[in-house]
Amino acid sequence: MKATAKAHTNIALIKYWGKRDESIILPTNNSLSLTLDGFYTQTTVEFKAELKEDVFYLDNTIVTDGQYNRVTKFLDLIRGYAQKHTLFAEIHSINKVPTAAGFASSASGFAALAAAATKALDLKLSEHELSRITRQGSGSACRSIYGGFAEWEKGIKEDGSDSYAIPIAPKDHWDIRVAAVVLSSKMKKVSSREGMKRTVDTSPFFKSWVDSIPSDLDAIKQGINDRNFEMVGKIAEANCLKMHATTLGATPPFTYWHDTTVSVMQTVKQLREHGVPAYFTIDAGPNVKVLYLPENEEKIKKALREIPGVTDVILSRAGQGVTYL
Ligand code: ADP
Ligand code: DP6
Ligand code: CO
Repeated sequence: MKATAKAHTNIALIKYWGKRDESIILPTNNSLSLTLDGFYTQTTVEFKAELKEDVFYLDNTIVTDGQYNRVTKFLDLIRGYAQKHTLFAEIHSINKVPTAAGFASSASGFAALAAAATKALDLKLSEHELSRITRQGSGSACRSIYGGFAEWEKGIKEDGSDSYAIPIAPKDHWDIRVAAVVLSSKMKKVSSREGMKRTVDTSPFFKSWVDSIPSDLDAIKQGINDRNFEMVGKIAEANCLKMHATTLGATPPFTYWHDTTVSVMQTVKQLREHGVPAYFTIDAGPNVKVLYLPENEEKIKKALREIPGVTDVILSRAGQGVTYL
């Protein structure tokens, strides 16, 4: 009744931004990501007959707030599958990723939790069944079940049975790299969940965002298949800008960007103008991820580290899917 799992974060190249069903987490659009080896969560779940409720430790500190509720609510779902409604667990999770800062801790966090909890209860799940359950902890997490490139199929059914991630290309398909440019590891003011809800409910740009997804997806999948860096980079960058544009149209309007976010974007553009191919993407937070190829690693690292306001640059390769320890 005890298991440990490790899951990596992923960076969306085509963003998930909008839910059509908030309670079971069904998205308004397909999304596509690259799993990263540089950031991960390791979680141990032990179910114990004597416990009266779940106990959750994150980074060796007991958690009792909304983060705890999110974990127990998700474990209720897994208890339901296992028909063990009153069996509670002790959970120990370590984030090798800043929590709630736009580095997708919810992705690695819920993928590791889902994998460890279902393994501890000896539920024999296929990867896509695991992805479907994981989706209900945090949408982006369903893609972290797989290494390399993965696409989350939004599905068309109301019960969510056809909404899960599928592998697009394994990590060894292409040595594409990502520099995570850290400006702030502070918790963001607007969570991904709250930010996308406000956008869906109020932004007049939201419909155009959703309409623009299918052609971006087709093109990026072609680019990944052909290992066409320019094509993948251009589409990912434009898709990110469209997503962030929707937040400016919301009521009240908001942005995840800081001034240094914009400086990093400008540096990436200048690198390109000087013949170094690089493209940026940004999740729900101020920090920027820069896509590059191995031969340009030194130049990329140097240029990004020199930007005032940048506190760290963490280089990452494509990562693997969920593993059990
Ligand atoms: P992020 O950009 O880090 O994904 P989100 O707002 O999407 O930010 O999600 C952050 C939330 O994810 C945290 O507040 C917490 O509720 C949850 N979370 C993060 N790490 C873990 C973990 N290791 N185990 C369980 N839940 C986690
Ligand atoms: C901008 O998966 O964190 O990073 O499903 O509410 O937990 P919830 O949200 P979350 O949203 C991620 C949004 C994004 C884009 C992406 O990862 O696709
Ligand atoms: Co998240």
